[in-house]
Amino acid sequence: MFNKFVSFFVLFIAVSSVLAQPRETHDFNSDWFFTLEDNLDARHADFSHADWKKVSLPHDWSIGFDFGEEYPAGNAGGALPGGVGWYRKTFQVPEADKGSHYALCFGGAYRYTEVWINGKYLGKHINGYLSFEHDITPYLHDGNGQNVVAVRVDNSLQPNSRWYTGSGIYRDVRLEKRPRLHLVREHTFITTPKVSTEKSVLNVRSVFSHYTNGRVGQLRLRLQDKNKKTLAEKTIKFSEDHFEEELEVEGVTLWEPANPALYDLTITALDNANKVVDELCYPVGFRYFDFDVQRGFLLNGKPFKLFGVCLHHDLGSLGAAFNRSAAKRQLLIMKDMGVNAIRTAHNPPAEEFLDLCDELGFLVQNEAYDMWAKRKNKFDYHIDFKQHHIPDLMRLVRRDRNHPSIFMWSIGNEIREQFDSTGIALTQEMAKVVKELDPTRPVTAALTETNYDKNFIAQADALDVLGFNYKYFDYDKLPTEFKGVPLIASETTSALQTRGVYDSVHDTIQLWPASSQDKFVTNGNPDFTVSAYDNVAAYWGTSHERAWLEVKKRDFLGGIFVWTGFDYLGEPVPYPYPARSSYYGIVDLAGLPKDVYYMYQSEWTDQDVLHLLPHWNWKAGEQVDVWCYYNNADEVELFLNGRTLGRQSKTEDRLHAEWKVPFEAGELKVVKIKDGAVVQEAIRKTAGKPVDMIVDIEHDRYAVDGKTDLHFLTVSLVDENGTVVPNEDVELSFVPQENITVVGTDNGYQADLHSLSSANRHTYKGLAVAIVKKDDLGKDAKVLIKSQAFEKEFVIK
Ligand code: GAL
Repeated sequence: MFNKFVSFFVLFIAVSSVLAQPRETHDFNSDWFFTLEDNLDARHADFSHADWKKVSLPHDWSIGFDFGEEYPAGNAGGALPGGVGWYRKTFQVPEADKGSHYALCFGGAYRYTEVWINGKYLGKHINGYLSFEHDITPYLHDGNGQNVVAVRVDNSLQPNSRWYTGSGIYRDVRLEKRPRLHLVREHTFITTPKVSTEKSVLNVRSVFSHYTNGRVGQLRLRLQDKNKKTLAEKTIKFSEDHFEEELEVEGVTLWEPANPALYDLTITALDNANKVVDELCYPVGFRYFDFDVQRGFLLNGKPFKLFGVCLHHDLGSLGAAFNRSAAKRQLLIMKDMGVNAIRTAHNPPAEEFLDLCDELGFLVQNEAYDMWAKRKNKFDYHIDFKQHHIPDLMRLVRRDRNHPSIFMWSIGNEIREQFDSTGIALTQEMAKVVKELDPTRPVTAALTETNYDKNFIAQADALDVLGFNYKYFDYDKLPTEFKGVPLIASETTSALQTRGVYDSVHDTIQLWPASSQDKFVTNGNPDFTVSAYDNVAAYWGTSHERAWLEVKKRDFLGGIFVWTGFDYLGEPVPYPYPARSSYYGIVDLAGLPKDVYYMYQSEWTDQDVLHLLPHWNWKAGEQVDVWCYYNNADEVELFLNGRTLGRQSKTEDRLHAEWKVPFEAGELKVVKIKDGAVVQEAIRKTAGKPVDMIVDIEHDRYAVDGKTDLHFLTVSLVDENGTVVPNEDVELSFVPQENITVVGTDNGYQADLHSLSSANRHTYKGLAVAIVKKDDLGKDAKVLIKSQAFEKEFVIK
């Protein structure tokens, strides 16, 4: 293991000297050892971790467990254990590197994280969602000397969250070697003070670390397009420890979600002999935006409705362990639905998530906190707030302000201080800190109090945009109540659904639980499911259709952020345990869309949508609600076994067509009619017994960098005609045959208590998903998928 790292390191240095790039970033994720035994002796350099488990980072130890009622996080926290975990890793650094600086950079660990290098204590990091780093230079042994890093991650104080957090070093770790004189990322700030397709201006500023007075060097700024064509370049002398320069650029393509055009800025420090001293690279997007009290949000000068979703940070069966291709999958599923904006509820995301948003084209509202000094949970961040909220906020803004995708900072979600006068000073303090570090983006907060007199965060008069959560019935009073401040629907909906479950539709939206008097729904389904007709919501929410219609018709609202894009672990309203993951998602935890996904797609995209629900396996004579989402048509016509059941169309107030149909086995078909002609059709057939499976293997679309790529296998149980069987689920085993590891499995059912890391999974309503990875990337892999009645082997190219 050590040799591998050394040889990689040596190779890297050889290559980098050719490229003259003295700064080196090494992936530090592999070859760690892990235990859940909390023994403080493990901090010592000579401690033996030989009997610990070998793991790779990012790593979330909680997700490997079966769900259980006994864990103190409760089912709101995902019904999984916290605890204390230790990580250790041994490594070497080459001798020649004396004088360089080494920093150990953690993308994020949950929760309190203490680090030792060669037995020396480096400190304790508090915020579970922020990146941090330690300078390890003074403590390193170079040459043949072994270095040991030991990390204690403490997530034992529970409950500390309203959702599943994960535990451990759940984001990337990098070892960065920097030249003694180097540019400081946190103090580098790139802005676009002038943006137009004719002439734009890029402003770049940064700071040198370890600058010695009198030192003179050169600084080169170069902007290139993706074909490496240089669009603008400038070289100047530096003779101070900081600089601020501008570059003029002609003829850029503007960045927008539909076309996220990115350019590469390279900032190079050179010595007087033109040798590269240090270099930093950033993606740059040229875009400008504005909020307007009447017209809502404007991007690049045009009104632009934010079609947003809120997302928590977990990645389903991977837990909180960040993975680029799993995040890319989530984002592309959202993109296909028409989403153009994301609110990272209610904490900063992984940096790599923002890289993906830059590239794929999402506007991101980056949120700092779910609580301030007043708690939502006994051990949540409120216990550290007083001491840490300002440094943490500064760290967040400095870390993320160079991402073109970021367009707003939120200093909090449904903060309790909005209800008392302490909210005023805190809002002012935090807004000021954010604006000093980034005057280019608005600061907002997600509020619930719609009366100005009672809303002390609004009264602080320090926010540029006000977000309101829920309470659509108050939207029309907001412009007068909160005069002169632009508005967004920062959180809406909280409708509840289990994919593939269909109960008869009531005339009104069902509220589960019905009111604040009840903790849980009192007349729910015995199997902890919620119907997937868009007809059930938590009492503070409403249906997807209603919430979207209310935002859609009001231009003064910049846009909507639906709660939530995906189901997430924890917060399983409206049920107690065994429910352990949320019902709010438009897409289930496994990544399978619920029907309402197509409502959004029909509204938010130009793609031709025609989606018919439910499945067609019912009891003879049973009356079934049939719904259809569509767009680009005048009306739709339903046929049962060839007989017409009539034409229907959407209305101003209803975004689907609907029929009540007495069940009869056979074929249910809907056709879309435009200008009198049939332009599209969709069919549901009555399925027989499951006899086979169809497996859809997705990989290429979600590939990112080779190293972290995963393969997503969606298994559908089918009858002899290839129709998905929705009502006879089976247990599947995913058995690795060659060159493959099963990373996780899921079926989207919120009360399945079997560990999400298991290689066995019941299908749910005919479907299940397995996430696998190849052990050797260069070779094909083989997996056997088995049920009691049938099995099939699949080769993964
Ligand atoms: C909101 C809250 C979210 C989530 C949601 C569930 O009030 O901001 O974090 O709890 O309710 O409906």
